[in-house]
Amino acid sequence: MIDLKDRVVIVTGAGGGLGRAHALLFAQHGAKVVVNDLGGTTQGEGASSAAADKVVAEIQAAGGTAVANYNSVTDGDAIVKTAVDAFGRVDVVVNNAGILRDTTFHKMTDADWDLVYKVHVEGAYKVTRAAWPLMREQGFGRVIFTASTSGIYGNFGQSNYGMAKLGLYGLTRTLAIEGAKFNIKVNAIAPTGGTRMTEGLIPPQLFEALKPELVSPLVVYLGSPACEDSSGLYEVGGGWVGRTRWEQSQGACFNPQGFSVEELAAQWGAINDFSGATHPKDNMEAIGKLVAHLQKQA
Ligand code: NAI
Repeated sequence: MIDLKDRVVIVTGAGGGLGRAHALLFAQHGAKVVVNDLGGTTQGEGASSAAADKVVAEIQAAGGTAVANYNSVTDGDAIVKTAVDAFGRVDVVVNNAGILRDTTFHKMTDADWDLVYKVHVEGAYKVTRAAWPLMREQGFGRVIFTASTSGIYGNFGQSNYGMAKLGLYGLTRTLAIEGAKFNIKVNAIAPTGGTRMTEGLIPPQLFEALKPELVSPLVVYLGSPACEDSSGLYEVGGGWVGRTRWEQSQGACFNPQGFSVEELAAQWGAINDFSGATHPKDNMEAIGKLVAHLQKQA
């Protein structure tokens, strides 16, 4: 039994979709939940307290404990203050709030670029930054960032969104390193779920099958003391969960004194050949092959 009794969890963008499902499941496991939601549209327009209030009422009706917060994630201090005022601490931050401003790069406006950055990246930064000192002091924290396959693999019309989503995984990797000695575990998920964000984009039959509730067990596990893993990137949806990692080819070696474009072109096949590939876990492992090459030459 994953018991989260007395744990305090902030779920951003929890007024609907995936965030709502996460908040409900955390509460079912005994956590006290801050249901944050600005209550705007998928494109990031407008605001309303109704979305967060509805989910708080659902949690309370099921016997759980929750409070609402209506701030934008860019006001991270205010969201963390709601948690501390209501429950006295913050154990878990689930950075889930998100919007879309899909358009081709050719038609991208500064506003489309900036707003997506602001909600996904700055918002996740602000909420996590405000909770971080509390997690360090108490020697416990779990942070989950919501990435996307559109960031990992790219997707037509989502250059702003892809930038933001993979940026969050960069943030995950470094916070996992910096949080390690304070028992703060930091992971990212790339979910697929049938929500208002994906309605009309996913074929109706698949949309129905991709229940948001199928993403939440992973999020609750990553938010629990039971999870000792950190810096992971997990793809999840439709009842499937897997882990994704970096892969580095064996590559090709050249004269460290200098080499030509033609020499490089001649080795293009080897550079792109993933047979015998390795999976570096950190910077030192990542530069291991070039260090070994230089040592051989010395
Ligand atoms: P959704 O639109 O149902 O939920 C997003 C929630 O975030 C909404 O309730 C919205 O009001 C809230 N929100 C937006 N801007 C906010 C702000 N500035 N401050 C506070 N709350 C704000 O969408 P969904 O699908 O549940 O998305 C949840 C997360 O999962 C997002 O980060 C999204 O980018 C990500 N995601 C979803 C995928 C899917 O297949 N549904 C695929 C990949 C990533």
